[in-house]
Amino acid sequence: MYKHNIFLLLCGLASCTVALAIGRVFVKTKVSLCGPTRLDIGWTDRSLASCGVNCIKRYQGYCYSFMFHNVTNLCTPGGQLMPLKSGPDEREGDLFVLLSDDAYYGFGLESYMSATVNLAFYQIDVNYTQAIGACQCLNSSLYAAKSLDKFNLYAQLVHGVAHDTWIGMNDLETEGRFVWSDDGQPFDTQWMTTFFQFDQPDNYLNEDCVEMHWDNQKLNDDSCNKTFYFICEKQ
Ligand SMILES: *[C@@H]1O[C@H](CO)[C@@H](O)[C@H](O)[C@H]1NC(C)=O
Ligand SMILES: *[C@@H]1O[C@H](CO)[C@@H](O)[C@H](O)[C@H]1NC(C)=O
Ligand SMILES: *[C@@H]1O[C@H](CO)[C@@H](O)[C@H](O)[C@H]1NC(C)=O
Ligand SMILES: *[C@@H]1O[C@H](CO)[C@@H](O)[C@H](O)[C@H]1NC(C)=O
Repeated sequence: MYKHNIFLLLCGLASCTVALAIGRVFVKTKVSLCGPTRLDIGWTDRSLASCGVNCIKRYQGYCYSFMFHNVTNLCTPGGQLMPLKSGPDEREGDLFVLLSDDAYYGFGLESYMSATVNLAFYQIDVNYTQAIGACQCLNSSLYAAKSLDKFNLYAQLVHGVAHDTWIGMNDLETEGRFVWSDDGQPFDTQWMTTFFQFDQPDNYLNEDCVEMHWDNQKLNDDSCNKTFYFICEKQ
């Protein structure tokens, strides 16, 4: 069945893409933000493309990633990327991940009025830095509620899980100047009283990261080292 595999290897300065004839495309990515589950110990292979082909041949639907070392030719088969799991060692080779169908990582469309967002809700308690990193690892960013409808969609989701949840906003750089963490754009202060709880933000004991209280669905600045749920969104 895999006898006549043909593949394409496209390498630019910054990245490589391995497209296999069996319809799967792997792209080179950084190993630092999250780690693939290892399917097995590696083997020595002929080439990068052959490593990808063999990963699929041996593990079929479970091969979502692989590592290939361009000097030792070590090929390591990998499964799904796991946010918050430390990545593999770069010395093991370059990491290639399947250009994913979003559903695999739990992304799906959610709507409220004019807002439709491709998001994934992670019901795991993590600090703010971990939430930012986990979303980046999934090629997404921490939810940024830049419109009222988008804010209300977020509020509805958070209320539904009855748990406080990080939102992609902080004033880490300049105290009192809140920005969206995906692009650094300032928070439009005309929404201050609509989005924030009446007595917040208050920077109590140096609070620089923003979360939503599930019970009143209002924002509050909090310590970045506290742990809450988080929502990632894809553009
Ligand atoms: C070989 O691997 C190293 C380490 O990951 C990487 O920096 C380098 O760009 C790779 N070279 C090629 C040609 O892919
Ligand atoms: C990451 O997202 C960008 C923009 O949405 C997309 O062009 C790119 O293919 C994605 N990369 C992966 C590995 O999914
Ligand atoms: C968490 O951060 C606050 C400042 O925001 C600091 O006062 C506190 O000591 C930190 N706690 C821990 C356990 O690091
Ligand atoms: C979040 O947790 C990670 C892992 O425990 C830790 O390295 C990091 O310093 C923490 N960040 C904050 C802001 O507390």
